[in-house]
Amino acid sequence: MIPSVSSSFLLVGAVALLRAKKKTLKKTRKVFRVYMDGCFDLMHFGHANALRQARAIASVASTGGGGEGDVEGAGADVELIVGLVSDEEILRCKGPPVLPEQERVKCVRAVKWVDDIIANVPYELTKEFVEELFSEKYGIDCIVHGDDPCYLPDGTDAYAIPKALGKYREIKRTEGVSTTDLVARLLEYADASENTTSKSAGDESSGGKRSEKNERHEARFCTTASRIAQFAAKVSYSKTSKMHEETEKRKTDKKQRKNEKNEETTCCYVVGAFDVFNAGHVELLEECSFVADKVVCAVIADEYLTRDKTNQPPPMLNQSERAMSAIACRHCDDVVVGAPARLTDDICKTFNVTAVVFEDDDAVTERDRNVCEKNGVQILSVKERVFSRKKLTIAKRVQANRALFEERQKRKMASEKAYYEQKAFVAED
Ligand code: CTP
Repeated sequence: MIPSVSSSFLLVGAVALLRAKKKTLKKTRKVFRVYMDGCFDLMHFGHANALRQARAIASVASTGGGGEGDVEGAGADVELIVGLVSDEEILRCKGPPVLPEQERVKCVRAVKWVDDIIANVPYELTKEFVEELFSEKYGIDCIVHGDDPCYLPDGTDAYAIPKALGKYREIKRTEGVSTTDLVARLLEYADASENTTSKSAGDESSGGKRSEKNERHEARFCTTASRIAQFAAKVSYSKTSKMHEETEKRKTDKKQRKNEKNEETTCCYVVGAFDVFNAGHVELLEECSFVADKVVCAVIADEYLTRDKTNQPPPMLNQSERAMSAIACRHCDDVVVGAPARLTDDICKTFNVTAVVFEDDDAVTERDRNVCEKNGVQILSVKERVFSRKKLTIAKRVQANRALFEERQKRKMASEKAYYEQKAFVAED
């Protein structure tokens, strides 16, 4: 039916009213702050995916449940605040942490969906602490956790209070990865490194003969195309986001310096296995982002990291799993999922590489040097500063506290088994 003049008039009026309402809403809408707490020990891509989903949930909630597409710049009205449980609290409630707080902070801060961190939070969400979170001090709107049950040492639900207040939201726990699982692999790796007769077998730079025990683990994580797309998507930040403010300031300073010196655009190509992504890796990529306009993280393909090729135990995580952590890192502009181990003329041209960095300086070969010379690419050496990027260093820490970790493993493995047995479908945001 063709609308009459009077009904068209009404329709135009209604649309104008809606538009005005939307404008006012936009002006007055506060930033929706979502809180996710945790230990984030041996920060892995499952943790990163949890943080991503927490932010996605908040995006939907901030638009009144209408989804990201409904409001212009959705996502920019959301902030994800991570509560990092203190070392003492982890020791009390779970057993010893592998990584001390300083390293856990470094890893969590590097995740691109995180806007701010509250360090040293208690494991238990007490009434007082929940009130503080919802007060003006922190301005939290809702609390999020994975669909795995989380119990306090006395067996009660750690999230009972926010649940009772109707301020709790759940996200899908990522399958096939956990701190517990990584601890088991690290223990095996540390043992394998000692069971060999030749010089320091697990040392990534020695090239010593390896024990046969440390073979590749069967991956249970599903690297779907949609997950890669979700991880690689651009994140919108609010004007008040702490982390974003820092990154933006760094970028502006760099641009200014560059303009003053009249420099060309630079691309730093960083090659490595990036196995068990850690604070040392974050430090490395961050340093590269200080010196280059673009950082491409080249995560070496599994096929180049076999025992035959490197005389090293294979990586603990497969190339997609290793790449997911790099994609989640705010210091990477792009990631090659399964890169060649060596630099080639074609790679230099494809990415317009101006500098190359190897995760392990000892991995640079004569061939790499020749390629760099031919293509005018600088080889940069980024030394470890505060944090080690060698997984053996982390594995040795686990091994040094073997009895305590084995005790913790027993408990955690039982609860993980129970979780997988009762697991049902949960949608992933
Ligand atoms: N998480 C997740 N998927 C995983 C692991 C963790 O979604 N594979 C989520 C948890 O549900 C929680 C957050 O990440 O919301 C932080 O988890 P954390 O406290 O660090 O515990 P776990 O990773 O579960 O550690 P552990 O293996 O020691 O239990």
